[in-house]
Amino acid sequence: MLQLNLFDSNTSLIETQKLPNNQKLSTNIFTNNYPIHRWYNFIAGFSPEFVRFCIQEAKVNCDDIVIDPFSGLGTTLVEATFQNVSSIGFEAHPFFYDISQAKIFPTSDIQQVKYLENLLLSIQPYTGSFKAIWSESALIFLNKLVSEDNLALLASCLGIENTISQEHKSLFRLIVSKVLEKTSLAQTDGIYKAPTTLKKSISFYDSVSIVCKQIYEDVENLQDNFYSKAKLNFGSSENMELVENESCSLCITSPPYLNNFDFAEMTRMELYFWRYAGSWREITEKVRRHLIVNTTTAPTDLKRNQDFFSSALSENFKLKYLNSIIENLKNERKIRPGKKDYYLLIYPYFAQMQNVIRELHRILRSGSNLHLIVSDAALYGVYIPTHEILSQLMIETGFNIINIENMRKRGERWLLKKRTGSNKLGEYHIHAKRI
Ligand SMILES: C[S@@+](CC[C@H](N)C(=O)[O-])C[C@H]1O[C@@H](n2cnc3c(N)ncnc32)[C@H](O)[C@@H]1O
Repeated sequence: MLQLNLFDSNTSLIETQKLPNNQKLSTNIFTNNYPIHRWYNFIAGFSPEFVRFCIQEAKVNCDDIVIDPFSGLGTTLVEATFQNVSSIGFEAHPFFYDISQAKIFPTSDIQQVKYLENLLLSIQPYTGSFKAIWSESALIFLNKLVSEDNLALLASCLGIENTISQEHKSLFRLIVSKVLEKTSLAQTDGIYKAPTTLKKSISFYDSVSIVCKQIYEDVENLQDNFYSKAKLNFGSSENMELVENESCSLCITSPPYLNNFDFAEMTRMELYFWRYAGSWREITEKVRRHLIVNTTTAPTDLKRNQDFFSSALSENFKLKYLNSIIENLKNERKIRPGKKDYYLLIYPYFAQMQNVIRELHRILRSGSNLHLIVSDAALYGVYIPTHEILSQLMIETGFNIINIENMRKRGERWLLKKRTGSNKLGEYHIHAKRI
């Protein structure tokens, strides 16, 4: 039996459960078997099965709306459409937002897919200077990842993008982004492109055929009733004022995890390629700044603005859950190599998550289910039970915790001495209900 600390708050009952045999529900291991979902997904996504399970269990009907405040690559919104339910998503990362559009509103026009495929198969290498397209930093990075020949073909894709109709631009971007990934020589090491670890690169034209074949198959098999009733908003879910009070009846989501993925860095290749940003600084300003603060790469001024974030959290909550963690992280920093300022992440992360939880409370109807998947963290060996702390924020905001389930043990892969806290790590499914 997995032992969790039970909250001493008497406002809610928290049950603990055995580690489930099925450790796969929360992760996207089988996503490549699912139409549309498989067009573009990433390791940080949860599974379509999980979303389907939550929708079916909630017995929502076609008037109901499902919300995902951290939409990512659209798993919740795509699956909601498959289940014939309306949905609303928020995503603050521009690349994820753009790519998701192609999955959330898939074309039903097979000829259009053929057209894009033929267009790309007939493309000729760009012959000008790459310096006219990309900034110096972007070019240095891209040159490490993609061979000169493939990069010349990919560069031509940028040139023809403005000839694509608005309606099909996101599909074009999705296809070319997949081709970029396939042509890349560098391994994706966990989540980040690692220029020093090589993988087999597939030629540009072969990649186009592989990617389009999959899309073509799915579009051909789409039933006529796949009619998307989804709405995806670009921006931070800390403020979801576009969504009316008590208008949604189910939330299925997975926020950024503390000290896990830097979503800006993991898309560095794509951000440079599509020219969302031309330097590390621009990535910070144009992307990172708009995301929940969860890694030490967050903008320095945000991390330094501790008073602002601290004042948003109640004294009692900070005293009970956060202050000792911050003290431990400060102490560890003094003796650990790297001098990482992990302690500066705690107030911003939980204050921002509190904003999202409050917004969800406003938007959800009384009695609505909220399903949230999150991992806890061990920074410099200091264990941070994120799932417990977020559950407490939910309780304080007006949710009952129905159940907390450990979906998957984390940390075994990197059980190093320096990470003494990591043996407690888990990925948790919090099931709460709006009071
Ligand atoms: C764990 S991922 C969600 C993955 C998603 N469940 C899927 O299957 O694709 C978290 C997402 O939250 C986004 N995000 C981070 N901060 C945000 C914010 N303040 N508002 C909205 N989205 C944010 C990240 O860009 C990332 O896509």
